[in-house]
Amino acid sequence: AVKDVLPISNPAIAGFGMSIYLDNAATSFPKPERVYSRVDYVLRNISGNPGRGGHTGSIDANRVVFDARQRITAFFNIPDSSRLVFTKNGTEALNIAVKGVLNPGDHVITTAMEHNSVARPLEKLKKSGLKVTTLETSRDGGICPADVERAIKQNTKMVILTHASNVIGTLTPVEEIGAVTKKNGLLLLVDAAQTAGSIPIDVSRMNIDMLAAPGHKGLLGPQGSGILYVRDGINIESLIEGGTGTDSIEEEQPLLLPEALESGTLNTPSIGGLAEGVGFINETGIENIRKKETELTDMLIKGLKRIRGISVFGSEDANLRAGLVTHSISDMDPAEAGYMLDKDYGIMVRTGLHCSPAAHRVLGTFPHGAVRASVGFFNTPEDIDVYLKAVSEIIKKMA
Ligand code: ALA
Repeated sequence: AVKDVLPISNPAIAGFGMSIYLDNAATSFPKPERVYSRVDYVLRNISGNPGRGGHTGSIDANRVVFDARQRITAFFNIPDSSRLVFTKNGTEALNIAVKGVLNPGDHVITTAMEHNSVARPLEKLKKSGLKVTTLETSRDGGICPADVERAIKQNTKMVILTHASNVIGTLTPVEEIGAVTKKNGLLLLVDAAQTAGSIPIDVSRMNIDMLAAPGHKGLLGPQGSGILYVRDGINIESLIEGGTGTDSIEEEQPLLLPEALESGTLNTPSIGGLAEGVGFINETGIENIRKKETELTDMLIKGLKRIRGISVFGSEDANLRAGLVTHSISDMDPAEAGYMLDKDYGIMVRTGLHCSPAAHRVLGTFPHGAVRASVGFFNTPEDIDVYLKAVSEIIKKMA
């Protein structure tokens, strides 16, 4: 795997030699070499706009999108590739799922762990009569399927859950909750921003009705890519209308997926790159990716816990979480700690509220937030050692 990766080196960083990227929960870096090659190839050689014309270039572009759709459909065990929609990121996918399906008067069950890309669209729809129950979680961010079942009302239409909190990392028991939503005839929308590509997801087995994910995190694709799966039989409205390359004679937006939700020219180079990210995951084995990320996460949790002055949030068991660890650094402002890590040690982490203020309220770290280190398949145990050393030094300096 290592030969497939571009080295990240920043010799300017005195004493450490290399810059270290630990912000994979925001976007993964680096990408597999084949992702870069594919983006370059598509941009350089595929001359057409997918679905917009009968000439060779357009057909080639269509083939890029078609192949990517097939590969990603198989990856999540989606029954029908026409129900997989390409979006520009996870946020767009979630907005389409939320606003395209819910109506005034509907009731939704969600959790305090959701990212603003779920919380804000719901907040907006509440103004026109959507009813929302936000379930409390344990301090670890855990959700209990029985709590979901208890919150169901006569007008409940959808349950919206993150598969893993982007702040605490805790994994949600999606399969168990999928059994509850299926039994009660509800829709289950899962935000897989922190798990797609790192933790196996089978929409059919898990009873996931809609799955939203960015392409540029664990799926290892470029930024500008995202996906939304919409189960057959769900009526969903488009958020934007326009050219779809199909049914141009019709005055109104066509209803057939995926085109109905893909107006405008697709990001063909990014979609081509995303297919290669998924190809790399298939070749490497998602279980090997998960194993490595879990080992690195375990090192982080154990190492940080040994440092005096650090509080680590969430479960101590790396198997119960995605590959991210959020922590405090004594009583330092997290933004200052992040600045020192970056400038003095060349280590990139994300600090603050991570676009999930409600999760920080649960942790008691609102409004300043905390420091989050998040691993990817291309991180090494040495990266974690350097991080732990840097954090210890910062604490000593601030004492
Ligand atoms: N949602 C992404 C994060 O957690 C961007 O950093």
